[in-house]
Amino acid sequence: MMATTLTVLTVLALLRSASCQAGYRVGNPAPAPQQSAYTPSTLAPPTYPPTNMSPPPSMLLHPPTYPSTSPSPPPPMIPQQPTSPPTSQPPTSPSPPPPVIPKPPTSPPTSSNPPPAISPQPPTSPPTSPSPPPPMVSPEPPTYPPTSSNPPPAISSQPPTYAPSIPSPPPPLPSPPPSSDDAGKKLKVGYYENKCGGQVDVEAIVRKHVSSFDAGMKAGLIRLFFHDCFVRGCDASILLDPTGDNPQPEKLGIPNFPSLRGYEVIDAAKAELEARCPGTVSCADVAAFAARDASYFLSGGGVDFAMPAGRYDGNVSLASETLPNLPPPFAGLQQLEKMFADKGLDAFDMVTLSGAHSIGRSHCSSFRRDRLPPGATASDMDPAFAAELQANCTSAGGADNTVVQDYETPDELDNQYYQNVLDRKVLFTSDAALTSRDMTGYLVRVYAMFPWLWQQKYAEAMVKMGGIEVKTAATGEIRRACRVVNSRT
Ligand code: HEM
Repeated sequence: MMATTLTVLTVLALLRSASCQAGYRVGNPAPAPQQSAYTPSTLAPPTYPPTNMSPPPSMLLHPPTYPSTSPSPPPPMIPQQPTSPPTSQPPTSPSPPPPVIPKPPTSPPTSSNPPPAISPQPPTSPPTSPSPPPPMVSPEPPTYPPTSSNPPPAISSQPPTYAPSIPSPPPPLPSPPPSSDDAGKKLKVGYYENKCGGQVDVEAIVRKHVSSFDAGMKAGLIRLFFHDCFVRGCDASILLDPTGDNPQPEKLGIPNFPSLRGYEVIDAAKAELEARCPGTVSCADVAAFAARDASYFLSGGGVDFAMPAGRYDGNVSLASETLPNLPPPFAGLQQLEKMFADKGLDAFDMVTLSGAHSIGRSHCSSFRRDRLPPGATASDMDPAFAAELQANCTSAGGADNTVVQDYETPDELDNQYYQNVLDRKVLFTSDAALTSRDMTGYLVRVYAMFPWLWQQKYAEAMVKMGGIEVKTAATGEIRRACRVVNSRT
């Protein structure tokens, strides 16, 4: 049993080492932008991002967890959410039985501990996948940017950050924000202990608020953390509302609007923290704790880890920086690896974090062009699954419906995602792409078989992501309200 565990971990370590040698070591300088990913093609481009905020269709059988949050700047108006997440629905399409998986350890592993021995029956090692990875999707990603005819609603007078007809790569990244790997390394577990006179348990306050929101909002919090960290680092820049000076902050960027949600949870936690311990807890740390706590609740406690803290909040937020930094759903493996490597995360982290697609929802516009007929000429999606999505995405009124990401266990953060990848029942090209190379495909199969291993690695990867371009007292501030920089309050 222990030998099996060690063997799997050794193989994974070797895989990671190979990945690092291939250029994905933390801190590697970013390679040159990949022109090919943005080369126009004759394929119809996908309509990314979501084109409206319509509620999910009832035909999916899942209770609507949308609409997503409004990015407009209401002050902390906290909607009352059910305290328990919606129950999962039975699968809407048949699937082969999952591989035999070992029983998870009795106590969830933490990021600092080696995985405990598994029981009762360890799988063979290396795992014997039921089948080799399916054939890959199109070697060429579809044209980008998309030709959506529906730009984000006119919250500001400015047009979207790209013109559909631009056939060139996105503009080069603006000068990077002040960042340092050192700052990320200086984050501390238990940072807020005794910071509020010992009377206030900062992390418990955040956890309490996260627990009071529904599963959809919890899923949103995990994505929100990812989208915060990948644009200017984990500095809460995603939370800033539009202002006269800055009418197009990150939250109005194409990948974020209207789909990103969870802002109200951060507002609620921050409001209580400011009332009880003013000027102390950064919004960036609230977002990090909230993502950690959402992971904990959605995994039924299986993902349980300490999140280091000590981040400061940034004061720059630009929608124009979202597209160049956030991977699009129609990205192929090469583009995904590059965009994660740009943030100091390797292919291993990328595969691991993609497991977050075992929860939450997606707008149909995020995948239909490149994954569903008639536009998807190269999609490898399971035909029955595609037909079901097609039906669920059809809307008489032209609404941009939403569907669950994991048709098996939609509200559980678990390793089901990896089985879905193997079964070709995932939404995005970026999901399907994970099996397009031996190393990543092997990792997908390992995670599909070892839930505890994925839980542990997910926790580690979340902590690692939380260290991206962290700001310090010298380069940031502790915002009084998360939606606005201090100089404007
Ligand atoms: C690997 C590259 C990734 C791509 C291309 C991608 C893309 C997307 C897209 C297009 C959606 C649906 C948005 C919509 O239409 O409503 C989505 C949803 C989601 N993503 Fe990702 N994502 C990636 C990685 C990640 C990572 C690293 C995380 C977190 C660790 C994450 C967490 C989520 C969650 C939780 C949702 C559901 C959100 C909700 O229900 O509100 N994703 N992703």
